[in-house]
Amino acid sequence: MNTDIVLNPLGYPLILADNDFSTINQLLNKEAESGCVFFILVDENTYQHCIPQLLTNVEVLSQADIIEIESGEENKTIEICTHLWEALTENGADRRSVMINLGGGVITDMGGFVSATYKRGIRFYNIPTTLLSQVDASTGSKTGVDLGGLKNQIGVFADPQAVFINPAFLKTLPTDQLQSGYGEILKHALIADKEYWNAIKAKHYTEIEDWGSLILPSLKIKSGIVKQDPTEKGLRKLLNFGHTIGHALETFALENNQPLLHGQAVALGMLAEAWLSTQLTTLSATQFEEIKEVILFNFELYKPAEANFERLLELMGHDKKNVSGQVRLTLLNEIGKGVYDIKCDPELLKDALRFLISI
Ligand SMILES: NC(=O)c1ccc[n+]([C@@H]2O[C@H](COP(=O)([O-])OP(=O)(O)OC[C@H]3O[C@@H](n4cnc5c(N)ncnc54)[C@H](O)[C@@H]3O)[C@@H](O)[C@H]2O)c1
Ligand SMILES: [Zn+2]
Repeated sequence: MNTDIVLNPLGYPLILADNDFSTINQLLNKEAESGCVFFILVDENTYQHCIPQLLTNVEVLSQADIIEIESGEENKTIEICTHLWEALTENGADRRSVMINLGGGVITDMGGFVSATYKRGIRFYNIPTTLLSQVDASTGSKTGVDLGGLKNQIGVFADPQAVFINPAFLKTLPTDQLQSGYGEILKHALIADKEYWNAIKAKHYTEIEDWGSLILPSLKIKSGIVKQDPTEKGLRKLLNFGHTIGHALETFALENNQPLLHGQAVALGMLAEAWLSTQLTTLSATQFEEIKEVILFNFELYKPAEANFERLLELMGHDKKNVSGQVRLTLLNEIGKGVYDIKCDPELLKDALRFLISI
């Protein structure tokens, strides 16, 4: 892939370009004409691996102020936001300033939030550098940070000016981070597109070389859903498939010092929620077996002891998706057809966890 592909279902361009920086150059050159000052938000890994490539190819950023934070979900906090707002203030950022979020979902979530709230909002661009952020986090306008143990508890919907996706950035990404992003790719296929599922189901994620060819269909699915329901009143809940149980596993594993990456937890959440789909919706046993096989082919199991199920349920109760504490799930009617707002009682949730640890 040499030329860039620009999608625009959300009112801002999603630019997919493998090492072709022409569109992002055009956009940022135009910003520069208005005399703006650029800031680039990075963590130590994207500073090392992605800044050189970006600055070599986008000349207008050579004078940008680079703000570096420590990598990791534990830094996606309001305290770090305060540090970032202060750094912007100290460096004289005004309302014409432009933020470039160069990194994974932590950087795009937090950089988007900091930009959307600094002086009531400055413009920002997302340049996602992990597979997960390229197929998911950087697009869809959700920004925010965690609070205590609760993920994404504080945040706002805010549109970037554009999202620039360059699969070449993935070359330095550790394998487990690719695996994590692959979890969200499988989710997109399962909730919305059986053909896409059929095209990828036989592959192990480590065999995939042309990530651009998977990022494109995933982006189309995500942005197509977000376009119809930007603020998650209904349809956007489809994107939560695997996340009710997945988020609980992610938090629980972290509490027990055995951290799972987001997409790894979501993959296991999808497995448990696919099992629930056989109980609560119309997913057939054959399709369920197929989903199970693909997930187990690509992901390792994580098995919390039964004594911890109450804690896991408690964590599911904190899920923002539930109306007044009642657990409502996104499930599958069949492969490629998600369904949302399915009520599930706690005993059945425990059965799903029992299924997961019985594999
Ligand atoms: N806003 C949304 O819609 C949305 C959707 C899904 C996930 N998220 C959020 O995204 C976050 C997870 O994102 P993530 O998985 O990208 O994690 P991340 O941002 O923590 O990045 C993972 C790791 O990869 C490193 N890294 C990034 N790019 C690299 C590169 N090119 N080469 C080498 N190392 C690189 C980072 O420094 C970090 O150590 C979570 O906070 C989650 O809540 C948001
Ligand atoms: Zn997710």
